[in-house]
Amino acid sequence: MKLSGYHVAITGGSGGIGSALATGLLEDGATVYNLDFVKPADESFKFISVDLSDENSVKEAFKKIEKLDAIIVAAGVQLVGSDSKIGEVTLDTWRRTIDINLTGAFLSVKYAMPFLVKSGRGSVVLIGSPTGITMEGAGYTAYGASKAGMMGLSRIIAADYKEDGVRSNVVVPGTMSTPLIKKIWDDPEKGPDLIRRTPLGRMGDPRDLIGIVNWLVSTDSSFATGASYAVDGGMTAR
Ligand SMILES: NC(=O)c1ccc[n+]([C@@H]2O[C@H](COP(=O)([O-])OP(=O)(O)OC[C@H]3O[C@@H](n4cnc5c(N)ncnc54)[C@H](O)[C@@H]3O)[C@@H](O)[C@H]2O)c1
Repeated sequence: MKLSGYHVAITGGSGGIGSALATGLLEDGATVYNLDFVKPADESFKFISVDLSDENSVKEAFKKIEKLDAIIVAAGVQLVGSDSKIGEVTLDTWRRTIDINLTGAFLSVKYAMPFLVKSGRGSVVLIGSPTGITMEGAGYTAYGASKAGMMGLSRIIAADYKEDGVRSNVVVPGTMSTPLIKKIWDDPEKGPDLIRRTPLGRMGDPRDLIGIVNWLVSTDSSFATGASYAVDGGMTAR
């Protein structure tokens, strides 16, 4: 198995995308730590309870980890119903989104970094979004800005740690059927509209992301850093 001997932490491993990725890593032989504040039903992963927007909580969580070769940041929120155009979005909504998505990514990678440097084959994978690179973010000021910020963060990590054998990349999923956007795809207008904006004409399955993520974790991708990879049914290619 490609990832036997690898230790991988995944944030948001109890969520729709995170749990599929955690399963994919496990199936490829990795030891997987799930950092989330919701305990999953699946006990195959080493669950560590954490609030990723709180530095002390993240610091304590990483004390429970002995070894890491990769961190995947798949935790996130999209505050559908309160995130909005800039003239309408509240500071509370902005702060909560940035705190979890962007500050959460910052803290997760910050506390993972000593392990990744020690590993000598460290890999950071941030889960981005089309909203961070195109006008797909319309109506989601805080979410789109947090995702654009994560992409900048990844490039800076890639540049700063290139001498330490640590690479950093972003995977950009298209519309996936997970609880995160249930309110959008349950909406009789917005749901079908998301499919219309996806050239392949369907919603993605979180398992569609496993191949690219496992490749980015492994040394098969040793020449890949500072990049982003869309797995989005063509949404960002138009
Ligand atoms: N679902 C999609 O269509 C889609 C598309 C593009 C990008 N994404 C991105 O993928 C990532 C995962 O999304 P998802 O669809 O799996 O969402 P999800 O809601 O199913 O899962 C998110 C997970 O993050 C955890 N989490 C949230 N805040 C946390 C905190 N402060 N501390 C610890 N854990 C916390 C939740 O408990 C949950 O398990 C997100 O960053 C999202 O922006 C999703």
